[in-house]
Amino acid sequence: MKIEPIDYAITSVETDLMAIGYFKDESKLHGSLAEIDEAMNGDIESLISQNKISGNFKKTTIIYTFGRLPAKCLLIIGLGDKNEFNENVIKEMAGVVVKTANKQKVKNIITCLSNIMDYGIEDEDLIHCFVEGTFLANYSFKGYSTNNEDKNQIESMQLLVDCEKDKVIKGIESGTVYALGTNMARDLVNTPGNLMTPTDIAKRAVEIANKYKMEYEILEKDDMERLGMGGILAVSQGSEQLPKMIVLKYFNAKDSNNVIGLVGKGLTFDAGGISIKPRSNMHIMKSDMGGGATVLGVMDSIGKMGLDANVIAVIPSAENMLSGAALKPGDVIKTMSGKTVEVINTDAEGRLILADGITYIKKLGATRIIDVATLTGAIVTALGDITTGAMSNKDDFIKEFFKCTKKTGENIWQLPIFSEYKEQIKSDIADLKNTGGSKAGSITAALFIEAFIEDTPWIHLDIAGTAWSGKETNLIKKGGTGVMVRSLIQYIRDNIK
Ligand code: BES
Ligand code: ZN
Ligand code: ZN
Repeated sequence: MKIEPIDYAITSVETDLMAIGYFKDESKLHGSLAEIDEAMNGDIESLISQNKISGNFKKTTIIYTFGRLPAKCLLIIGLGDKNEFNENVIKEMAGVVVKTANKQKVKNIITCLSNIMDYGIEDEDLIHCFVEGTFLANYSFKGYSTNNEDKNQIESMQLLVDCEKDKVIKGIESGTVYALGTNMARDLVNTPGNLMTPTDIAKRAVEIANKYKMEYEILEKDDMERLGMGGILAVSQGSEQLPKMIVLKYFNAKDSNNVIGLVGKGLTFDAGGISIKPRSNMHIMKSDMGGGATVLGVMDSIGKMGLDANVIAVIPSAENMLSGAALKPGDVIKTMSGKTVEVINTDAEGRLILADGITYIKKLGATRIIDVATLTGAIVTALGDITTGAMSNKDDFIKEFFKCTKKTGENIWQLPIFSEYKEQIKSDIADLKNTGGSKAGSITAALFIEAFIEDTPWIHLDIAGTAWSGKETNLIKKGGTGVMVRSLIQYIRDNIK
């Protein structure tokens, strides 16, 4: 889809569908809406007075113009209360426009934003949000159906705006990058496990590296053996698929000592191993590489933006299966850090591959680490599927990150990692055990990871609830969500030092 600005008079542009926002209780029309009303001989005001047009948030009214405007059809979107106008309203507005246009099978649309540009949101931000929302809403996974069904995607969106040209360009650019990075992660998650093996993820990572001239390393099984990566090796030993430790290095701030390390769980299918999962919904475990997908979406986006930052990405990738060679409950393994782990439950595999990923990224020089992982069912119990769980060993770091999630509108909530919980992951025969029992499952998982982080500033993002959506909203399709791509890009942009 192409998005571009136009600056014609609203009453002179030809289009199949013209979208425009309308606040609740806006009795006196002004700006573009007043111009449209005039061209429509006062019909808009008259419909408002008859309560036929609603300003309630996300309510839509479609009006055919029958030649009174060159636009064939008007879509008026309720924006709610002016006092509650914020970035999220703009994204939702974009979502409504895209959904309505797709329902009407309209491929080219114009949206007028000029009448909502003076309500407290910076012009560049407003355009960013609208563009981001448009690309997020227009996403669909291509899939594998043989009937080539038309997914009705919009082909072009023109924006009628009233502000400085360079702000428009910047807003369109950043909104596009944030959304397309998210959509890339969605595609990776939606691709089934037989077509998205550790080898496939590694190939995608290499494509990104080549596109932006990043350095990369793909550690193979024998490299892992040489480096003593007993965590990822143990998890993958029951699978036919070979594990990969995927590394991308983006160094574009030569004068800075700051190196952000992103570690993404890349479990391409989690059957649970010998501690096998129940059969219902097991197919969704193709999404257990959601953390890795998010990290790749971020790397592609920062490459595209050419950000002035140093970022290393590590994606430990493996498949958790059952076979005569599989890891067994009770086994003791040795991780790259030297720490030994008693495996109580083979389904708590994410923390085992992350342990090696974290030790490796520290060795590569990361000065602070954010890991992203579909780690625990317990986080779904605690926060449901709309809020990511966050845990950290450094208050300043997580505060800084929360500023970014606030900007991007991604829901997140912090859980404590008090050291008393560590009792639960003590083993009688090894340094740690890989499960801490039924209480506080997300916290004990985080504390397991923290044992490998040691003193490096760290944030852990448990996206088990948020990486996959079982329902469709205006901005999200069923399936992979690409959660946290936008907030991580924002964090990297805001912390260039
Ligand atoms: N991949 C799962 C976590 C998960 C659950 C992701 C639901 C997405 C949706 C993880 O590997 C897992 O199985 N965790 C176990 C840990 C337990 C055995 C300590 C869990 O949460 O049940
Ligand atoms: Zn598992
Ligand atoms: Zn898992």
